Amino acid sequence: MDPSNLLDPRLLIVTGKGGVGKSTVAAALAVAGARTGRRTCLVEVEGRQTFSRLFDTSAWDFTEREFRPGIFGLSIDPEASLVEYLDMFYGARRLSKLVVGSTAVEFATTAAPGIKDVLLIGKVKEMERRRDGDGRFHYDLVVVDAPPTGRIVNFLRAPDATTEMVNVGPIRSQAQSLVDMLLDGRRTHLQLVTLLEEMPVQETVDSVAALRGLGVTLGPVVVNRVLTERFDAEGRKALTDDLEPAELAALLTDAGLDVGEDAAAALGQLGYSHLSRLGLQERMRDELRRRVTLPTIELPYVYGAEFGADAVGVLARKFEEAVT
Ligand SMILES: Nc1ncnc2c1ncn2[C@@H]1O[C@H](COP(=O)(O)OP(=O)(O)O)[C@@H](O)[C@H]1O
Ligand SMILES: [Mg+2]
Repeated sequence: MDPSNLLDPRLLIVTGKGGVGKSTVAAALAVAGARTGRRTCLVEVEGRQTFSRLFDTSAWDFTEREFRPGIFGLSIDPEASLVEYLDMFYGARRLSKLVVGSTAVEFATTAAPGIKDVLLIGKVKEMERRRDGDGRFHYDLVVVDAPPTGRIVNFLRAPDATTEMVNVGPIRSQAQSLVDMLLDGRRTHLQLVTLLEEMPVQETVDSVAALRGLGVTLGPVVVNRVLTERFDAEGRKALTDDLEPAELAALLTDAGLDVGEDAAAALGQLGYSHLSRLGLQERMRDELRRRVTLPTIELPYVYGAEFGADAVGVLARKFEEAVT
């Protein structure tokens, strides 16, 4: 898999361990899609209003909205998907709205947890397949901020089990058609996100094995929040030489930073902890390279008081560089 194919499939499912930056990466992929001329939809699943907050828009719901030129966004949940689904099959929106009180969805999803995923992924498939009047696909790119990898693996493993409780034609065949879409590498890539830290790297190794075993096509692994080296050889030496605060303060004064011994000691500690983070990062990068045979795309740690649309724009540039 060549990173330049990153935005080629119509459907990108972004997943990984919680907190690694799945939502951020999904947003950045969508921005990169739009900037490279793709009509793009960013999908929030079982929404927490992550994107409306990130892009500072009004609240997202089941209606697709063009929140920036070329990027549409929506937030899907099983209930709204079920209403639309019943409406499509039985043309009874008002009736289905009555039937689908949250109790009905709750009942169905408790009885057969996979039903929820059939409904959510069903809506994603509708967007991936949608065509305009002229026969062309409506979206060039659909980016889904998906649940953690385990849930996707479960869904792919057991399309039948997921529908066992509702043993009726349309939903059962629907589940299979969703698995077909997810396993078709020309339509769908799974986009794993990780950090250069122990647990996320281990989890990525496991996820790659599980997903490959199921026949999923994986895009390049996105390595998020990568720190850059901030010291030259001399700086490194000063930090690792175990200098006394007074010596460190003298060095800093020479470099034009006139601070007292306490501040020099504190800066020395900060610098040292940064160096050891870099060391860990280097080891984890090697580990990832050794154990995962996929290309990687590294995204920098973006500093700033508030992580918002501008920061997402910085990360999107990295994806654009990868595809051009
Ligand atoms: N490249 C980055 N640089 C700095 N902070 C980041 C970066 N990517 C994500 N973050 C921050 O990390 C936190 C988790 O990111 P998020 O995308 O919400 O993770 P997830 O969706 O995997 O739970 C957020 O506070 C986000 O602002
Ligand atoms: Mg998230």
